[in-house]
Amino acid sequence: MKKKNRLLTAALATTLTFGAFSVQTYAQPTVIAEQQYSVVNALDNKVLNQINVENIYNIIAHLEQTPRVAASPEEYAAVQYIKQQFESYGYEAEVQPFEFFGFTAPHTVELSVDGTSLSPGAFTYTPSGEVTAPLEYVGLGTPAALAGKDLTGKIALIQRGEISFGEKVLNAARSGAEGVIIFNNAAGALNGTLSEANDEYVPAVSISQAEGNQLVSKLNNGEAVEASLTVLGASSGIRTSHNVIASKKATNKNKDNGNVIVLTSHHDSVPGAPGANDNASGTAMVLELARVMKDLPTDTEIRFATFGAEEIGLIGSRHYVNTLPENELNRIVANFNLDMVGSRDAGDLVMRTVDGQANLVTKLAQSTSSRLNGEPTPFARGGSSDHVPFGEKGIPAALFIHSPLEPWYHTPEDTLDKISKEKLQDVAEIVGTAIYDYARFDNQGPKPKKREKVDNLPKQMYFEEDVQ
Ligand code: BES
Ligand code: ZN
Repeated sequence: MKKKNRLLTAALATTLTFGAFSVQTYAQPTVIAEQQYSVVNALDNKVLNQINVENIYNIIAHLEQTPRVAASPEEYAAVQYIKQQFESYGYEAEVQPFEFFGFTAPHTVELSVDGTSLSPGAFTYTPSGEVTAPLEYVGLGTPAALAGKDLTGKIALIQRGEISFGEKVLNAARSGAEGVIIFNNAAGALNGTLSEANDEYVPAVSISQAEGNQLVSKLNNGEAVEASLTVLGASSGIRTSHNVIASKKATNKNKDNGNVIVLTSHHDSVPGAPGANDNASGTAMVLELARVMKDLPTDTEIRFATFGAEEIGLIGSRHYVNTLPENELNRIVANFNLDMVGSRDAGDLVMRTVDGQANLVTKLAQSTSSRLNGEPTPFARGGSSDHVPFGEKGIPAALFIHSPLEPWYHTPEDTLDKISKEKLQDVAEIVGTAIYDYARFDNQGPKPKKREKVDNLPKQMYFEEDVQ
């Protein structure tokens, strides 16, 4: 992580203003050349003095006790907790339900072949079932490989490749197979998805390339191989997840510019992952900034939203933007999205925008990061997170994330002990002051009534083609 040099920045700026040069400033000409921004100001301090990183850390500690899979009871408990936190700061919080078609992963996945247990993976959208039957190898499971084969009363052994997992399972099932085992065509674990639910599917599990090849050899030697396959607890269907939304309206009606800044995160996690960094960190930071902003005078509405079902495909955030009336959507001038903002083991802070272009969010945050740290936070295209639905509606939006990602991403190791208070503090300061820069009404000139078009923005200060 980049070193904070706020004091150095201030010292150099002062030196420049008064035209006096010390030996030290001569020794660092490149730093002097970058001093085109002002130092941290008293208005920044209204935010900075209130941010308490211990609050962020404690909220992460609360949330990361269990995975928070979309539509699970644990996600709902997190939703209630987030709502209560908002309320404890004096906000009213709305819990917004939405539905999606989901898959519940099985609690039991077992496979034994001729009495020896293997360690299979389950495909997303596999149905549950228990099958014991002779194994038959059917190559890639394509229609050509299956032509003329009757797999009734059999389990199909299929190699990965050429067509999708879903097509393989469907082809085998239509040829009569009662279960499917797909083996990898490369080293490493195979954790696949059948892409969508289908009533014609039969239970389907994955094994490694080595295990698959061994079974193929046995079968090719003419040996009879019997397999027992068990998938229990898997189901597909309509699920309900929730967003939590709280709002700080413009402080007084005469100074309300009608604009809205939305600060967002997702509170759900992937199965098996406590999601301390992904994304209890962003959610805890949304809550802390809501607390910090509560009584600051602003002429802009600041809305705080934590979304459900991001990990299933940005479903909560899409629901949010898609159900806002057009006139409400047009009021949103910026979306700051916090996702994975505190990992000790990830790289530096970057912003990601949908089109890779600068926008109001990157501009505000580059200005504050320059003031705070002496250099602007870089930005680049991308990031699959909740800023995307906002960006796709033409709203200036950016994801705040550290890059490269930590090795614990989407694993059971994404836990509190990997969280860095220093990283949390840094992001909270940059984002908090950036939002306040726009939203405050003291000491500000006139502001645009209309959303700033991306095209009209000044040239980007700093752009990295690919910071990943
Ligand atoms: N926290 C990640 C965001 C992310 C962004 C990860 C950029 C890696 C790079 C997010 O929760 C996530 O995992 N997103 C999914 C996609 C989503 C649409 C299901 C991903 O990036 O695989
Ligand atoms: Zn995430």
